[in-house]
Amino acid sequence: MAMAPSVFAFPRLVCIFLFFIAIVTAGAAPVSNLGQREEIKRKLMDNGIGLTPQMGWNTWNHFHCDVDEKLIRETADAMVSTGLSKVGYEYINIDDCWAELNRDSMGNLVPKASTFPSGIRALADYVHKKGLKFGLYSNAGTTTCSQSMPGSLGYEEQDAKTFALWGVDYLKYDNCDNSGTSPRERFPKMSKALLETGRPIFFSLCEWGEEDPATWAPGLGNSWRTTDDIVDSWGSMATRADLNDKWASYAGPGGWNDPDMLEVGNGGMTTEEYRSHFSIWALIKAPLLIGCDIRSMDNATFEILSNKEVIDVNQDKLGVQGKKVKKDGELEVWAGPLSGNRVAVILWNRGPIKAELTVFWSDIGLSSSTIVDVRNLWKHKTETSVQGKISAEVESHGCEMYVLSPSGVRH
Ligand code: GLA
Repeated sequence: MAMAPSVFAFPRLVCIFLFFIAIVTAGAAPVSNLGQREEIKRKLMDNGIGLTPQMGWNTWNHFHCDVDEKLIRETADAMVSTGLSKVGYEYINIDDCWAELNRDSMGNLVPKASTFPSGIRALADYVHKKGLKFGLYSNAGTTTCSQSMPGSLGYEEQDAKTFALWGVDYLKYDNCDNSGTSPRERFPKMSKALLETGRPIFFSLCEWGEEDPATWAPGLGNSWRTTDDIVDSWGSMATRADLNDKWASYAGPGGWNDPDMLEVGNGGMTTEEYRSHFSIWALIKAPLLIGCDIRSMDNATFEILSNKEVIDVNQDKLGVQGKKVKKDGELEVWAGPLSGNRVAVILWNRGPIKAELTVFWSDIGLSSSTIVDVRNLWKHKTETSVQGKISAEVESHGCEMYVLSPSGVRH
């Protein structure tokens, strides 16, 4: 089996040594050395938010430009009535196409009268009254990607003030119509302008991974896209997971890699594929931004999006992005450390037929004698006192997801 070069590939003796050191220094039996994440000097955006990946909903993947205030209100209602807000989803975000093509005579952005007649402030108030947060979209160029509304280039301070005045809690900032100039010149202006408003506004950079934003965006925003746009297909989703993987060490509390929003529930993948999509996004600490119509989602979609045990992996306070740790053809193991000396593991069958997958403790940095309790996050069952490995039969394009905890310790 070919192993990804990583901390997980340590020879056994080194693992045993680290295990011993960890016991001595932490005073408790750790599950693994995975908690010793690479020391990256991260200069973070100083807005105090995004300590765990953002959770919420966004218009784009399902509705594109077909958006209006009724949709936003009904979605905010559904977020609460379905119980999705209770498991952590909080942002209701409007993407492109919410404004008139022209600014007003004072240079202000104008909500599109035909679709947002009550204005954005009223909509934000509505969302806030439901106990949720409100997000909006703009672009670091002259017009947005839809070309139906202005971008904020040259208007950063004015627009940031408008957003703060309207009660915006989240800004997704896109990269179209930029005359070929670097996002590294254009994005800092909005970052600074948002900070200067004094309102904590989650800043989501969307320059599609073009200039390796993981290396410079942590100081500017709370998340940064690492890839171009996802589409609702197995291939697109799996490719985005792979592209995002190489930036794992740059993510952490306050700033996250963003392989794009969820397609769960949009109809282009099977239930198994959507379960894999959601499991991997959770493990890799990706934003969990729902992209389907939650007013009419089916039970299978709800069951996936509301799996609190999977969400808890994503929202774990340690905030370390899980990675692909082993690959044998199309059979993969992804894993990452969690708080409390726990480890999250996914057995992911990307192949065309059902197959048996195994994770050995050595794949995830555990000594072979370590005994753990294994919680299956989709079957909601715990197996106690497991040693050495876990094996499972996994459906084609499906996965099993586990949390391994030190045996006998309650979480
Ligand atoms: C770009 C972004 C998408 C979406 C559209 C809107 O393609 O990457 O996520 O915001 O623009 O036009």
